[in-house]
Formats: sequence, structure tokens, C-alpha cells
Amino acid sequence: MTPSDLRALIRTVPDFPHPGIQFRDITTMIAHGEGLAACVGHLAQRAKAAGAEMIAGMEARGFIFGAAAAAQLGIGFLPVRKPGKLPVPTIGIDYDLEYGSNRLEIDPGAVRLGMRIVIVDDLIATGGTALAAAQLLRMAGAAVNDALFVIDLPDLGGAARLREAGLRVESLVE
Ligand code: PRP
Ligand code: ADE
Repeated sequence: MTPSDLRALIRTVPDFPHPGIQFRDITTMIAHGEGLAACVGHLAQRAKAAGAEMIAGMEARGFIFGAAAAAQLGIGFLPVRKPGKLPVPTIGIDYDLEYGSNRLEIDPGAVRLGMRIVIVDDLIATGGTALAAAQLLRMAGAAVNDALFVIDLPDLGGAARLREAGLRVESLVE
């Protein structure tokens, strides 16, 4: 599938979750078997090229693509969770995103010192979520140099922010 085939599977919903936001909805893409397989295959290939020893994905949509790509490579998946969900002592970080703010948490015990972890999410907008995840994983001792997305919204500047922070950024569709 070409990037334009994949783009055609993404539904745009105006004014969700707030007026003025053009919501890029991946549920239409993951309902399409060939589209889902193509996305996961591309992400897995890029994660492998980046030397991933583990993939981290952000709740909730990052779990869909991140865990599937990790399984394809036979490596582990680290869930970066919204607050209060993990049953063990966590480390966390507050952050802002395109339409609000939240907190991410991880189990620091899931990270081996120096482990190369690649971030995977469905979409990058302002980059607030991905930057927070990278910071958190680095706090736990991971080597985080790469972040992969299905969709980049370049007008919101997230990929540029991540690159300024020293991360390599790749996406399948703009
Ligand atoms: C969405 C999306 C990214 C983030 C991108 O997640 O899945 O994680 O926003 O926005 P940013 O680049 O401006 O930070 P959301 O917090 O809506 O959670 P969800 O996956 O549970 O829907
Ligand atoms: N997350 C942040 N901004 C978004 C958007 N415009 N569409 C879907 N998810 C998002």
C-alpha cells in the first residue's frame, strides 16, 4: 500500500474533541486488514533498522501499533500508561498535547539500563506526548533515539520539536 492508499483510510472528524480540532481517526484504518498490516509492517521494519531492543507505545492508540510491531519483531513492548493504571510504583511526567494535558507513567523496572527503546504512536501533533514519553524512558535509563508514527501533522510542529530534542523521527503519512 502506498502512503496515499494509507491516507485514504484515515477518517477526518471536524470539531472533535473540541471545536476547531480536525481529528484524524485511525479506527477506519485499523478496521481495514490490509491497511493495518501495511502500517504495522512499515513500523516494524523501521524499528528494526533503528536497532530496537524494545518498543514503547503510549496509551491508548500507541498500544495498537506498538505492540503489533514489537510482536512482529519478537521483541518486548513497554506500555506508557495514563495515570493510576499500573499496579506497581511508577515514575511519571505531566505534559500538554494538542487538545489538553495529562500525565504518563511507566514501571521503571521494565527498563534495563542502556536498553535501546523505540517509541511508536499513531500520531504526532504538538509532540508533547512523545517528548514526555522520551523523557520518562530516559529517566528510567533507556537509550531513546527514535520515534515512529503512522501520522504526522507537520503544521503543529511536533516532529520538528522532537528533532530539536535529538530524536530521529519518521512517519508513514503526513
Ligand atoms: C493522541 C495521540 C497521541 C497524542 C498526540 O493521544 O494518540 O498520543 O494525542 O498529540 P501531541 O503530539 O499533541 O502530544 P490521546 O492523548 O488523545 O490519547 P488516546 O490515544 O487515548 O486517544
Ligand atoms: N492527537 C492530537 N491531535 C490529534 C488530532 N488532530 N487527531 C487525532 N489525534 C490527535
